[in-house]
Amino acid sequence: MHEGSSVTTIEGLGTPENLHPMQAAFIKHDGYQCGYCTPGQICSAVAVLDEIKSGVPSHVSGSLTTAPEFSAAELRERMSGNICRRGAYSNIVEAVTEVAGRPA
Ligand code: FES
Repeated sequence: MHEGSSVTTIEGLGTPENLHPMQAAFIKHDGYQCGYCTPGQICSAVAVLDEIKSGVPSHVSGSLTTAPEFSAAELRERMSGNICRRGAYSNIVEAVTEVAGRPA
Protein backbone atom coordinates (compact mmCIF):
# COMPACT_ATOMS: atom_id res chain seq x y z
CA MET A 1 0.00 0.00 0.00
CA HIS A 2 2.92 2.37 0.59
CA GLU A 3 5.15 1.47 -2.31
CA GLY A 4 7.20 4.53 -3.14
CA SER A 5 6.31 6.26 0.13
CA SER A 6 8.82 7.48 2.69
CA VAL A 7 8.53 5.81 6.11
CA THR A 8 10.30 7.20 9.19
CA THR A 9 10.98 4.75 12.00
CA ILE A 10 12.27 5.56 15.49
CA GLU A 11 15.83 5.11 14.21
CA GLY A 12 15.21 7.90 11.71
CA LEU A 13 14.11 10.47 14.27
CA GLY A 14 17.24 10.96 16.31
CA THR A 15 20.44 9.40 17.52
CA PRO A 16 21.63 8.58 21.03
CA GLU A 17 23.91 11.62 20.81
CA ASN A 18 21.29 13.89 19.25
CA LEU A 19 17.79 12.90 20.36
CA HIS A 20 14.69 14.18 18.61
CA PRO A 21 12.84 16.60 20.96
CA MET A 22 10.04 14.02 21.34
CA GLN A 23 12.52 11.34 22.40
CA ALA A 24 14.06 13.73 24.93
CA ALA A 25 10.62 14.66 26.28
CA PHE A 26 9.64 11.01 26.72
CA ILE A 27 12.79 10.50 28.80
CA LYS A 28 12.22 13.69 30.80
CA HIS A 29 8.60 12.79 31.61
CA ASP A 30 9.10 9.02 32.04
CA GLY A 31 6.77 8.41 29.09
CA TYR A 32 7.47 4.68 29.13
CA GLN A 33 7.97 1.79 31.48
CA CYS A 34 8.97 -1.45 29.72
CA GLY A 35 9.59 0.42 26.44
CA TYR A 36 7.75 -2.07 24.24
CA CYS A 37 5.30 0.50 22.87
CA THR A 38 7.68 3.46 23.03
CA PRO A 39 8.99 3.55 19.42
CA GLY A 40 5.44 3.57 18.08
CA GLN A 41 4.26 6.08 20.67
CA ILE A 42 7.06 8.50 19.80
CA CYS A 43 6.64 8.14 16.02
CA SER A 44 2.88 8.60 16.36
CA ALA A 45 3.32 11.61 18.64
CA VAL A 46 5.57 13.29 16.07
CA ALA A 47 3.02 12.51 13.34
CA VAL A 48 0.15 13.83 15.49
CA LEU A 49 1.85 17.21 15.90
CA ASP A 50 2.57 17.31 12.15
CA GLU A 51 -1.08 16.48 11.39
CA ILE A 52 -2.39 19.21 13.65
CA LYS A 53 0.11 21.70 12.24
CA SER A 54 -1.04 20.76 8.73
CA GLY A 55 -4.68 21.37 9.67
CA VAL A 56 -5.89 17.78 9.39
CA PRO A 57 -9.08 17.42 11.48
CA SER A 58 -9.88 14.45 13.74
CA HIS A 59 -13.13 13.04 15.10
CA VAL A 60 -12.95 15.46 18.05
CA SER A 61 -12.11 18.58 16.04
CA GLY A 62 -14.77 21.23 16.31
CA SER A 63 -14.89 21.80 12.56
CA LEU A 64 -13.80 20.09 9.38
CA THR A 65 -13.03 23.41 7.72
CA THR A 66 -11.01 25.26 10.36
CA ALA A 67 -7.55 24.23 11.50
CA PRO A 68 -7.54 22.16 14.69
CA GLU A 69 -5.53 23.27 17.70
CA PHE A 70 -3.49 21.06 19.96
CA SER A 71 -5.45 19.88 23.00
CA ALA A 72 -5.50 16.88 25.28
CA ALA A 73 -8.66 15.68 23.52
CA GLU A 74 -7.01 15.96 20.08
CA LEU A 75 -3.94 14.15 21.35
CA ARG A 76 -5.88 11.34 23.01
CA GLU A 77 -8.05 10.84 19.90
CA ARG A 78 -5.13 10.84 17.48
CA MET A 79 -3.02 8.56 19.68
CA SER A 80 -5.91 6.20 20.51
CA GLY A 81 -4.55 3.39 18.34
CA ASN A 82 -1.36 3.20 20.41
CA ILE A 83 -1.86 0.83 23.31
CA CYS A 84 0.50 0.82 26.30
CA ARG A 85 0.25 -2.31 28.46
CA ARG A 86 1.94 -0.45 31.31
CA GLY A 87 -0.40 2.52 31.28
CA ALA A 88 2.18 5.27 30.77
CA TYR A 89 -0.47 7.46 29.16
CA SER A 90 -0.40 10.40 31.57
CA ASN A 91 3.36 10.80 31.21
CA ILE A 92 3.10 10.41 27.43
CA VAL A 93 0.55 13.24 27.37
CA GLU A 94 2.93 15.40 29.43
CA ALA A 95 5.82 14.70 27.04
CA VAL A 96 3.86 15.42 23.88
CA THR A 97 2.27 18.51 25.41
CA GLU A 98 5.71 19.89 26.19
CA VAL A 99 6.91 19.33 22.64
CA ALA A 100 3.72 20.92 21.33
CA GLY A 101 4.84 24.07 23.09
CA ARG A 102 2.53 24.16 26.05
CA PRO A 103 3.41 23.71 29.70
CA ALA A 104 3.18 20.08 30.73
S1 FES B 1 5.85 1.24 28.15
FE1 FES B 1 5.60 -0.90 28.03
S2 FES B 1 3.85 -1.15 26.77
FE2 FES B 1 4.04 0.98 26.98
